[in-house]
Amino acid sequence: MNEKQRLESAQVSTGNSPDKKSEKDYSRFFETVYTAPSLKDAKKRGKEEVKYHNDFAIPEEFREMGKGRKFYIRTYGCQMNEHDTEVMAGILMALGYEPTNGVEDANVILLNTCAIRENAENKVFGELGHLKALKLEKPDLLLGVCGCMSQEESVVNRILSKHSFVDMIFGTHNIHRLPNILQEAYLSKEMVVEVWSKEGDVIENLPKVRKGKIKGWVNIMYGCDKFCTYCIVPYTRGKERSRRPEEIIQEVRHLAAQGYKEITLLGQNVNAYGKDLTDIQYGLGDLMDEIRKIDIPRIRFTTSHPRDFDDHLIEVLAKGGNLVEHIHLPVQSGSTDVLKIMARKYTREQYLELVRKIKAAIPGATLTTDIIVGYPNETEEQFEETMSLYREVGFDSAYTFIYSPREGTPAAKMVDNVPMEVKKERLQKLNALVNEYAAQRMKDHQDQIVEVLVEGESKKNPDVLAGYTRKNKLVNFKGPKSAVGQIVKVKITSANTWSLNGDMIVEEKAEVLI
Ligand code: 5AD
Ligand code: SF4
Repeated sequence: MNEKQRLESAQVSTGNSPDKKSEKDYSRFFETVYTAPSLKDAKKRGKEEVKYHNDFAIPEEFREMGKGRKFYIRTYGCQMNEHDTEVMAGILMALGYEPTNGVEDANVILLNTCAIRENAENKVFGELGHLKALKLEKPDLLLGVCGCMSQEESVVNRILSKHSFVDMIFGTHNIHRLPNILQEAYLSKEMVVEVWSKEGDVIENLPKVRKGKIKGWVNIMYGCDKFCTYCIVPYTRGKERSRRPEEIIQEVRHLAAQGYKEITLLGQNVNAYGKDLTDIQYGLGDLMDEIRKIDIPRIRFTTSHPRDFDDHLIEVLAKGGNLVEHIHLPVQSGSTDVLKIMARKYTREQYLELVRKIKAAIPGATLTTDIIVGYPNETEEQFEETMSLYREVGFDSAYTFIYSPREGTPAAKMVDNVPMEVKKERLQKLNALVNEYAAQRMKDHQDQIVEVLVEGESKKNPDVLAGYTRKNKLVNFKGPKSAVGQIVKVKITSANTWSLNGDMIVEEKAEVLI
């Protein structure tokens, strides 16, 4: 195969990352890039070892690309996406672009999308509809779609046929290619599509511009191999790849040194952390045990999968200190039969046993969860089992969803005999229970003294400060602006369903009760 043929074959490849050499030459030879996602490829889990890179650099010729230009990124979905946005902002700023708070004066607009449920996707298509007018007014504006939706074949096809004013589509594994993608988009008259279905390597030194200076996110792993039958994430985020512990620890130390007060360790399934590190026996428990020694007031992690939540992690969390006593532990359903169809690989009893162990080891542990109602063929009895499990655990709160079929997932092919009306009723019933428990948990705080990490002014009232407790409860209180970014003690004076009100106390010795 000569050089040109090789490059042409890369151009029509089915979404696997081209090798490094062709990737470099590729952008020089072709005006447009078209690497579309393939669901078939996304399902594959290769045995190849993950490579780690520290060699990301903005090519010399792109350094002035953003001079005099502004960017705006709208983020949908989870914290992983929020954090990817911080990386994209970092890359854009390294290219000389400046951030702006509105779409009107942006020269580059990126929609960092979420594919988890249909309504998340509808929001993005709605937004594209709004942005069309702006794009017609400003033909030089570059409009890009990235994030999880761009990993879906059907979404890319829909954008190509119905939203042809979009300039670029790039995938979750192509973020580091943003400089090249932008360059292609400036040069090309065609839509630039670069979506690798197979995950790339782990690139450690991507620039980041963090959203705040108080709380920071740190990725500990990427991807998911769990393949719960309803979930699109294993297809959009690729196979599980853990970062090296030393890189994570260094990043947390660095944030601590910069004065950050709270770190959330991120992964789609953080309890699988380390399973893919072949040269060391190292899991989330070991990582947390190291990180807790770093001088930073609060450490959280999300999201957990009950199946991999091991005793060592519980033992480490029980040491307390900066490891907060709040665990988000998605259960999805209280019925063993539904859990089986979901391929969650645990039973109702195993989940309850895990909860029992956590509560026994970590005094005052707060649990929150995710629940899906209206799974295909879910019976009334199975739904009631979810309700009874909720009561049995006594969750502090929950994210609740109606099941949404995702193309390409096994559940999407299941015949479903539950009418939408019934699903809506079940969601309402569950939400009523969630609210009842949330309100009760908040009431438990009445007259207690809590530690609040103050994030800023309350959204509703600039005279009031707002922040979160270790257990992630929102607290509004009157206090000096100098308290922003600090951890202060607040005495709770009243409780609502989703927030607490209180008075800041200054006595040094006031004992924190919750
Ligand atoms: N439909 C409804 N909810 C879903 N989730 C994931 N996939 C779907 C789907 N297809 C929910 C799960 C998960 C949370 C992030 O989103 O509860 O924990
Ligand atoms: Fe999706 Fe979480 Fe299941 Fe992975 S573990 S497939 S991200 S629900």
